[in-house]
Amino acid sequence: MKRYQVLVSTIIFMMIVLSSSTDSITSYNVCPDRQSMEPCQCNDITNEIRCGPGFSVPMNVLYLFRDSVPLMMAAHSDDNSFYHYRHLAIENSSLEILLNNMFGRFKFDSISIRNNYYLSKLEPQLFSGPTTKSLTLNSNPNLFANDESVNNLFTIIANLVHLESLTIQNCGLPFIPKNAFAHSSHRLSKLARLDLRNNQIRQIDSNTFNSLESLRILDLSRNLINDLPANSLNLSLGEPCCDSYRCRDIHYFIDLSYNNLTDESFSPNTFNINCSIELRLTNNSIRFLKENTFRPLFRYYTMIQIYNNPLDCHHCNHSWLMKGRYCSDYNTTTCYYMVIDFVCRVEMSLYNFITNCTPYTARLNNLSLSYQSTSLLIVNKYLESYPNDFIEYNPQLLRCLSDFNFLLPTSTVHRSNFPLTLSTFFILSIIILIFAVLVAYLINRPCT
Ligand SMILES: *[C@@H]1O[C@H](CO)[C@@H](O)[C@H](O)[C@H]1NC(C)=O
Ligand SMILES: *[C@@H]1O[C@H](CO)[C@@H](O)[C@H](O)[C@H]1NC(C)=O
Ligand SMILES: *[C@@H]1O[C@H](CO)[C@@H](O)[C@H](O)[C@H]1NC(C)=O
Ligand SMILES: *[C@@H]1O[C@H](CO)[C@@H](O)[C@H](O)[C@H]1NC(C)=O
Ligand SMILES: *[C@@H]1O[C@H](CO)[C@@H](O)[C@H](O)[C@H]1NC(C)=O
Ligand SMILES: *[C@@H]1O[C@H](CO)[C@@H](O)[C@H](O)[C@H]1NC(C)=O
Ligand SMILES: *[C@@H]1O[C@H](CO)[C@@H](O)[C@H](O)[C@H]1NC(C)=O
Ligand SMILES: *[C@@H]1O[C@H](CO)[C@@H](O)[C@H](O)[C@H]1NC(C)=O
Repeated sequence: MKRYQVLVSTIIFMMIVLSSSTDSITSYNVCPDRQSMEPCQCNDITNEIRCGPGFSVPMNVLYLFRDSVPLMMAAHSDDNSFYHYRHLAIENSSLEILLNNMFGRFKFDSISIRNNYYLSKLEPQLFSGPTTKSLTLNSNPNLFANDESVNNLFTIIANLVHLESLTIQNCGLPFIPKNAFAHSSHRLSKLARLDLRNNQIRQIDSNTFNSLESLRILDLSRNLINDLPANSLNLSLGEPCCDSYRCRDIHYFIDLSYNNLTDESFSPNTFNINCSIELRLTNNSIRFLKENTFRPLFRYYTMIQIYNNPLDCHHCNHSWLMKGRYCSDYNTTTCYYMVIDFVCRVEMSLYNFITNCTPYTARLNNLSLSYQSTSLLIVNKYLESYPNDFIEYNPQLLRCLSDFNFLLPTSTVHRSNFPLTLSTFFILSIIILIFAVLVAYLINRPCT
């Protein structure tokens, strides 16, 4: 028994050592003393610095972050490098301007600038350390008083090369500058989430986002977008998502709901996306889904939400949707099917053929769509060619995975695809190894 106990405790000890050594490498600086941080507050538990209503004179901010506190900190250590904190919040201030290099040798993993009514200018060299992973600008209603302020902001952003998430919400952003994300020297190659919800954007230029190779979630909802020219939504990675061996698990989410989109807003090559996508077009003014715009999306698993649009269900121009119907092998999985539900249910009952495929009706019901949801198009994730016209028992179309997991409920749209990290993998293999050793030990244990 004793040997067994020793073995187990050794294993547990090893696991603790391993997990602590693979975990958090990040260490943050301790807070400066309270008085020297006035009017900001620094929290040693959350590693946050918050600056609020007392913040109004830009030169005082500059002095605080650039000169006074670093001097005080340097007195305690001869470390001349950056002071690192998890988060900086500038909220409810009366600042009108944020100056170049304002935060001196302070760096933050995430920064949020929110609810600053008077803030109307950001100087282009605002942040000196490009380490920030998340930047949020929210409800600063006067931030984009002129084109220069828009351009300055995107210059600031272009320098934050580690950025993973960028949010500009409710700031009246009037446009995205040409080449905003296309600086040749420094790319935002890690930016995975871009949220420009609730602004005044009217148009997206061609190839605005195509250099953002990690971009998966693009939220342009609640703008005034009326024009999506060819390649405006080119998220192509330069290679197809599937080759003859495998499909990469890439899933895009694009939200264009609550805009000013009509049938004329789209061009045949608006979308250049060679992977699975969930596209939200709800609350626009779309009457038709044009075949040459939307059919290319159905090479991969695609879900389009178009409820709350004045869809014309009678119109012959929707007949292309019938081309894609397929419903044959009940034993495996239907390769793809298209459903126009509710609004079109009466008029286009023919389209509602999914109900003829009893096994899939149950699955469809499991999607838990809200009752007024109407139009949902779903195609198989792995189909590489355009949907064929209806061919019953086409053996090619039966090569599907019987996997319905990708039909996520609509509430789980913000799916991300982070791979197994190295440390998780490492720990897992250690656990498996330990388990094997344990089993071997128990099997070879001498009888008593
Ligand atoms: C800013 O105002 C909001 C709401 O009024 C409040 O929740 C938040 O704590 C304030 N932030 C600061 C730093 O004062
Ligand atoms: C779409 O973006 C990719 C990747 O940047 C680029 O190679 C391609 O030329 C773009 N497509 C068009 C039609 O502009
Ligand atoms: C996307 O797929 C289509 C059809 O397979 C192909 O013609 C096109 O070149 C692909 N685009 C990219 C960027 O791979
Ligand atoms: C929506 O687009 C139309 C043009 O299709 C334009 O006349 C109208 O002013 C736009 N609405 C808003 C709120 O911008
Ligand atoms: C969305 O569209 C529906 C139907 O057209 C309409 O009743 C609703 O008011 C719209 N919602 C908003 C916030 O505009
Ligand atoms: C229907 O499609 C045809 C051919 O694609 C096009 O010429 C016509 O304008 C469309 N009708 C409407 C009302 O959009
Ligand atoms: C489906 O399963 C049934 C019985 O379970 C079988 O009779 C039928 O041949 C199967 N169909 C196909 C296409 O495999
Ligand atoms: C639907 O969901 C329920 C509960 O989540 C599950 O038990 C059932 O098997 C699901 N049905 C299908 C056809 O996936």
